[in-house]
Amino acid sequence: MSKLIIDDLELKGKTVLMRVDFNVPIKDGVVGDDNRIVAALPSIKWVINHGGKAVLFSHLGRIKSEDDKPGLSLRPVAEKLAKLIDKPVTFVPVNEGPQLEEAIAGMEDGQILLAENTRYQDVINGEVVKRESKNDPKLGEYWASLGNVFVNDAFGTAHRSHASNVGIATAMEKDGKQVAAGFLLEKEIKFLGNAVDNPKHPFVAILGGAKVSDKIGVIDHLLDKADKIIIGGGMTYTFYAAKGISIGNSLVEKDKIEVAKDILEKAGNKIVLPVDSVVAPEFSNDAEAKVVDGAIPEGMMALDIGPKSISLFEKVLSDAKTVVWNGPMGVFEMPKYAEGTLSVGRFLGTLNDATTIVGGGDSTAAVKQLGVADQLTHISTGGGASLEYLEGKTLPGIACVSNK
Ligand code: 3PG
Repeated sequence: MSKLIIDDLELKGKTVLMRVDFNVPIKDGVVGDDNRIVAALPSIKWVINHGGKAVLFSHLGRIKSEDDKPGLSLRPVAEKLAKLIDKPVTFVPVNEGPQLEEAIAGMEDGQILLAENTRYQDVINGEVVKRESKNDPKLGEYWASLGNVFVNDAFGTAHRSHASNVGIATAMEKDGKQVAAGFLLEKEIKFLGNAVDNPKHPFVAILGGAKVSDKIGVIDHLLDKADKIIIGGGMTYTFYAAKGISIGNSLVEKDKIEVAKDILEKAGNKIVLPVDSVVAPEFSNDAEAKVVDGAIPEGMMALDIGPKSISLFEKVLSDAKTVVWNGPMGVFEMPKYAEGTLSVGRFLGTLNDATTIVGGGDSTAAVKQLGVADQLTHISTGGGASLEYLEGKTLPGIACVSNK
């Protein structure tokens, strides 16, 4: 990649502004899955080990009113980061004004500071102003004025044009200051980029989830590139409807049936659909479920792929050299309908010769639950960002990084 990378920068004595994606689950003040924090450690460590002062910015959740603020403070993240990196992390409970400026001015080389949730700037004095999420240039200029260089390492936020990524980068470049990618951003682009633009064949994409509408862009973009596209999850039944197969009460996007028909026509034999399903009379883990081949009976809804589909998918995947997986095969959050998703994760863990890349919340949760995450090549920290990348879109958070 021809982008400037953090290790191209001279960091000694510099105040290094770094955008990270610490948008992590927090319950009762405790961080749940810390994957995104762990993934940011190499860049943070690089800065402090090379004599820079690391000033970190991140958003957390979505702030729509003043009431949202206390529950979406980054303080628990600062505590978690301090534990993970085994160093003190100064948390500043604001992200603008003298308290922040004085804290930064007082930093010594090698120290770490985390400013409060950048989306606090979306609501000021009770008014929804979206200074952060609508990229108010004044806010980007202000934050840029606080440092000497900017590192964007927030791949998870790369599909957003926020003041804390694009805004800071734009203002920095205007001032002749450097804007580099962090190691995480570099790694995500390398793996996702290679998979899409330079895959080893056979290249198989596995796309799941409830809605065809969420995945149309990805299917379209990958149709020319992949050898097979395996479809699972709720969106299967919009494809069934497009093929004239009965779907009972299964999920369907009626306005996407024509799109699904077009995709099937364009795809030739590239699209692989489930051949059997786990069905139940209602959307419940307590419902009496059974497996049916093909058509879904009247009064039943399909909630997972069945065992024949699992075998079919494994056969398609067995000689794959590149696999990209995004989205669950069934209602993964209900144990009765999780097997399809778990079996895909389990099988990917056995593909030692393939580059295996996983993105999206449920797919990632499945590989972690199975303990196979370490056997896969790359677990993306981006949900929406990885999907948009797979759609071939230009992500603003990547585009704003300076070229070498
Ligand atoms: C994510 O979790 O996908 C990113 O952090 C972006 O969050 P957002 O969807 O609230 O913009």
